[in-house]
Amino acid sequence: MTPTPILAKEETLDPSFVPPRLVRRDEEFAVLGRRYREALPKGLAYHLLLTGGIGSGKTALARRFSAEIERAGRLGEFPVKTTYINCWRRASDRTVMLDLLRSVDVSLPDRGYSLSEMLDVYEQGIRRHPAHRLVVLDEASALVRQGTKLVYLLTRSREVELGAISLMLIAAEDLLPYLDAASRSSFGVTHRLALAPYDRAALTEILESRASLALRRGSFDRDVLEQIARIAAPNGDARFALEILANAARAADDAGAESITAEHVRRAKGSILPTVTEAQLEALSTNELGVLLALARTLKGKGSSVASQRLRANHAALLEELGASAMSRTTFWRTLKELERDGLVTLEAGATGESSLVAADEMPASFLATLLEERIGQAPGGKG
Ligand SMILES: Nc1ncnc2c1ncn2[C@@H]1O[C@H](COP(=O)(O)OP(=O)(O)O)[C@@H](O)[C@H]1O
Ligand SMILES: [Mg+2]
Repeated sequence: MTPTPILAKEETLDPSFVPPRLVRRDEEFAVLGRRYREALPKGLAYHLLLTGGIGSGKTALARRFSAEIERAGRLGEFPVKTTYINCWRRASDRTVMLDLLRSVDVSLPDRGYSLSEMLDVYEQGIRRHPAHRLVVLDEASALVRQGTKLVYLLTRSREVELGAISLMLIAAEDLLPYLDAASRSSFGVTHRLALAPYDRAALTEILESRASLALRRGSFDRDVLEQIARIAAPNGDARFALEILANAARAADDAGAESITAEHVRRAKGSILPTVTEAQLEALSTNELGVLLALARTLKGKGSSVASQRLRANHAALLEELGASAMSRTTFWRTLKELERDGLVTLEAGATGESSLVAADEMPASFLATLLEERIGQAPGGKG
């Protein structure tokens, strides 16, 4: 007889699972409810920019909230319908637009129409199924950074007589600097919501609520949840916390244990890299990739940080090895600053005037180097 595994309902810990209840987000939920209820019944659009660090619950909040608002039925004259699009891998206006069209049952060939023609067709589609449309563009950074026209078009879209289009943009960073002035005006202070990172207590509560959904009863105790919360607290990242929980449960199952212990948690932690880096690595520019790889290789040797001058020399050598053209001092600095802003490196004033100390503590440097080499498509040691 096989006993019930500890990880009894694995799917409820999957990042795509929308939990039935969000803990510690009541206030944000209420704020959103008020704002949408003010605008939508009058037939007005309400646009929102939702920001917060990785794992701060942006996607969960948006999905939970749009489900609630749809379930609440009509706001004023029209029902509310949500179209959720993750823009991560569809970072172009046209591909997003094609998804929008599909949501009103129109499929167009992806060539031969301009973006604003496509928008017209979309609006016609809405007229056929009159509804207030909440368009949620998740992970919208790349789309917006490359100068999207779609945000402008959607926020300017005339009321389509049969409801309006409300746009919700979700990103880890503030997107306003990348928007044109006209679009920016749609995201004034009452059109922004920033989610603070979760603190330890909040993470413990989240872990508790999710563990009781996913794990066999009696297979975990509060100590273990608090241990995981402590590990994840520096980033306030609930995704990381839940990943550790799932892996710890798996480790316990593999060992045939009755319950999850601190040792399972430690093992689980060692096997995962914080998602803060994993997700960000995918978003790196070529410049950033190169500088970060030079840093990882330098730190792999020894030391917890390196002087920026030495890093620059090592980076120059790496570019040569890759057959890439040299990088100016200014670009090098700008790239370092970008990496700092993304939370991938830390810069500290060094002892000697101009030089700074550069560090990357997020994960073992050897591991980081391997990941980056895979992305660059280059084997270590300069072969090929
Ligand atoms: N308040 C919460 N209560 C329960 N689970 C949460 C809460 N906030 C986040 N989560 C869970 O944590 C994980 C990360 O949240 P997510 O919404 O994907 O973060 P983000 O989109 O900001 O990166 C998801 O599995 C999500 O379901
Ligand atoms: Mg998300």
